[in-house]
Amino acid sequence: MRVLVAIIVTALAGGSATFAVAQHQHNHDASAPIAPDSRQFVKFPATLVEHTLANMRDHLQALQEIQLHLGMGHTDVAAKIAETRLGMSSLGLHGAADVSKYMPQGMQDAGTAMHRAASRFATTAQDAGVTGDLKPVFAGLAEITAQCVGCHAGYRLK
Ligand code: HEC
Repeated sequence: MRVLVAIIVTALAGGSATFAVAQHQHNHDASAPIAPDSRQFVKFPATLVEHTLANMRDHLQALQEIQLHLGMGHTDVAAKIAETRLGMSSLGLHGAADVSKYMPQGMQDAGTAMHRAASRFATTAQDAGVTGDLKPVFAGLAEITAQCVGCHAGYRLK
C-alpha cells in the first residue's frame, strides 16, 4: 500500500511539474500578440504568395496525417507522407527553385533545414517499423516542427 501511495504521489508531482511548464509556455505565448511584430517582411510576387500559402496549408495537413498514421502504428505511411510532401523529394512539387530566389538567405536555410529534417524523419520512422521504438520518431517530428516555428518567427509575406 505504501509503495502504491508513493507511486501515486510521484506521478502527481511529475504531472504538476509538467503542468507548470505548460502554463509557463502558455503565458509566454499569450503575451506574443501584443509584442511588436519583429518578423522580416519578404516581398514575393502576388501569385507566389498565394501559391506559398496554399503550400503551407498542405504542410500543416501533412503533419496532421503523419500524426494520425503514427497513432495507428503505420510508421511506413507516416514516412512516405513526410518524404513526399515535406522532405527533399517535395522540392520539385513545390516549385522550390522559383520561390527560393525571392527568399533572404536565412529563410532559404530554414526551408532547407525543414526538408532535411523531414527526410531524416522518414528514415527514422521506417526504422521504427522494424525496432518498434517510437521515441526517436517523435523527436524527429519535433525537429520538423521546430523548422516551421523558426521560419514563422522570422519572416512574413503579408
Ligand atoms: C522557410 C520558411 C517557412 C517554413 C520552413 C515553414 N513556413 Fe509556414 N509560412 C511561412 C511564411 C513566411 C508564412 C506567411 C506568414 C505571414 O505572412 O504572416 C507561412 C504561413 C503558414 C501558414 C498559414 C497559411 C495561410 O493560408 O495563411 C501555415 C498553416 C503554415 N505556414 C504551416 C507551416 C508548417 C506546418 C510548416 C512546417 C512543416 C511550415 N509552415 C514551414 C514560412 C515558412
